[in-house]
Amino acid sequence: VLLWLTVKYNEQNFLLIGYMYILGIESSCDETAIAIVDGRGSVIAHVLNSQVSMHAKFGGVVPELASRDHICHIVPLLDEALKRAQISLQDLTAIAYTAGPGLIGSLLVGATFAKSLAFALNIKAIAINHLEAHLLAAFLDNKDLQFPFITLLVSGGHTRLLEAKTLGQYKVLGDTLDDAVGEAFDKTAKLIGIDYPGGARLAALADKCKEVISDSFPRPLIKRKSLDFSFSGLKTHALQYWQNSSQDESAKMTLAKAFQDAVIDVLVAKCERALAQTGIKTLVVAGGVGANLSLRSKLKESCQNLAATACFPAMEYCTDNGAMVAYAGFLYYQKQCFDDDWAIKVQARWEL
Ligand code: KG4
Ligand code: ZN
Repeated sequence: VLLWLTVKYNEQNFLLIGYMYILGIESSCDETAIAIVDGRGSVIAHVLNSQVSMHAKFGGVVPELASRDHICHIVPLLDEALKRAQISLQDLTAIAYTAGPGLIGSLLVGATFAKSLAFALNIKAIAINHLEAHLLAAFLDNKDLQFPFITLLVSGGHTRLLEAKTLGQYKVLGDTLDDAVGEAFDKTAKLIGIDYPGGARLAALADKCKEVISDSFPRPLIKRKSLDFSFSGLKTHALQYWQNSSQDESAKMTLAKAFQDAVIDVLVAKCERALAQTGIKTLVVAGGVGANLSLRSKLKESCQNLAATACFPAMEYCTDNGAMVAYAGFLYYQKQCFDDDWAIKVQARWEL
């Protein structure tokens, strides 16, 4: 029960006991997202503005436009989150914000806003690593989840297998040698004429294909003992396949399915190997590609066969969101890990 409550002194030094509310602010790339979790770690408000349509016409994220757009949306989103949570600014216990990795201008908007607000409210700010927030998102809907576990972190910028030992202690088991999975999905989608970011739409197309595709697409590094990944060869193979095809709707669908199947086979094989090598029985999937339905069902099936458990964040918490940042803040608040330096510091690169 104590965890649900916070204790603070007011200006007259009266001890105040109140409910705990952690605000989370995410602005590392092209989503402005704000959420509030309560003292049980449950999400009580979660709002976001996606900039996808704004960047689509440029074929990718334009950093300067991204940061300007965060500035336009951050205050209205905060107001909306407070309204949905039915609390006021003064009820907030601490403010967690994404301090990296990401686009520097975008990160600066969130960090400056979060720390200024924390300063004005005389509460703690908590700097959160975006990758760690993704990794912890599975806790939001799996309250029984416990360390240690294996994490497959698959996003637009990362493809990594990690051993999560405890909060803040992560060992990298494998990494991509070239493209990230999300990036490979997006580039392959672009190849067949699907606008940026086409990953989710390529996957939807693949799932519509009822044909049984032979495994003609390569499964890079699948037989290697190492837990590293490589996707650039697969992308080149997709290009060659496309150039030699009829380039009609049916060819698009076949390519999407063959590409997705190859990626998933590799991801599943490497996850199985990571579980076997470490003896750990829980697999957590994190990041935007974790929203891929076929990947989720194949990993579930494979874990069942290994008497292991596969844990996924809810779909809305796979891609960038404020809830994962607020939840990471909730965990670090309990460890009293605060960002007490009032200087604004963000990092474009920040390894776990
Ligand atoms: O984690 P995220 O929202 O942003 C980063 O931190 O990168 O991941 C975005 C990536 C994009 O590359 C997007 O195409 C991919 O996740 N993605 C998917 C799916 N939904 C999003 N890739 C495959 N299948 C999906 N259903
Ligand atoms: Zn992300």
